[in-house]
Amino acid sequence: MPHQDLRQSERFLTQYTPPKIDGDFTGKHIISVEQFGRRDLQILFDATISIRKRLTQHDRGLLHLTAGRLMATLFYEASTRTDLSFQAAMRHLGGEVVAASNGVQFSSIYKGENLADTVRAVGCYADVIVLRHPDVGSSYEAAYYLDLLRSQVSRQPVVISGGDGVGEHPTQALLDIFTIFDFKHQIDGLNITLVGDLKHGRTVHSLAKLIARYEAQDTTVNFVAPDALQMPRSVIEFLRQKNIAVRETDDLQDVLGETDVIYWTRVQEERFEDPAEYDAIKDRFIMTPPVLAHARPDAILMHPLPRKNEMGTPADHDELDADPRAVYFRQMENGMFVRMALLAKVLGGLWV
Ligand code: NCD
Repeated sequence: MPHQDLRQSERFLTQYTPPKIDGDFTGKHIISVEQFGRRDLQILFDATISIRKRLTQHDRGLLHLTAGRLMATLFYEASTRTDLSFQAAMRHLGGEVVAASNGVQFSSIYKGENLADTVRAVGCYADVIVLRHPDVGSSYEAAYYLDLLRSQVSRQPVVISGGDGVGEHPTQALLDIFTIFDFKHQIDGLNITLVGDLKHGRTVHSLAKLIARYEAQDTTVNFVAPDALQMPRSVIEFLRQKNIAVRETDDLQDVLGETDVIYWTRVQEERFEDPAEYDAIKDRFIMTPPVLAHARPDAILMHPLPRKNEMGTPADHDELDADPRAVYFRQMENGMFVRMALLAKVLGGLWV
């Protein structure tokens, strides 16, 4: 598939400033966790809990919060959870979903159309575009061009990022922080440990920054990674500016015993230029039942998934999954509820 120059999208990181939520989600692009503050997250948590209750208890399928609205999915990278949870969320809300038949590889992208044009074409037909793209800054670029489009067409389309390369994955961070709140009833005072590929992992970039945006009090974030896969310095600085205590180590045992939230991640094979480098590092951190045995009895084990060998063998997976501390399927389900709340809020249909 033709692929535009990386720098093409990256320059929009400085050229386009995403709107702050400031208590009002309506019509706003969702492209970075930096748009959110503590109050916005509390609003989203409340809305998510309310929607989950409505969907799972009484009026299942009877939500009409986005009736008559259209969501398009535009995924230039592989996805299972993000794509399907967004689609399920929109349908549960009473909205409709459109996607290019046979995926983006058979759309005009195949003819060499650039992102700026494709996203505006989709914005002519859909109220919300969920975009996953391999280039950092691609969602900023989409937001920039959709704002230009808004003055020309009847719709006021918004873009929601489903991940921009090694940059950010804001909605994953929203569901992750909600899941922490769901199990621990607070974000303040926690000891949170992020493990694995902190260099390339967009989920951990966004989650770490969102904990800082929440302005969590007395919270410690531990980064556990081999030297070659450390968290970018810019993210660490972002946390320190918000007085989040940060600890970096390459030895999980330094922090595991005091951790409330363990966030495990996959080594992002597709982001390595040299396969030998990936092979040398891929087995550095493996979560197995004997490793989990050293964790607190009330700790939770999270993972954005998909998983490969960073959670051992399929037999290890089964054993870990049976441990009550493993919450990644609940985390995954929460993804749909959080995305429902977000879609309803952005499309302006939600009261809470
Ligand atoms: C993650 C992603 O795509 O960044 N997956 C997801 O959205 N749940 C994590 C990963 O691919 O490792």
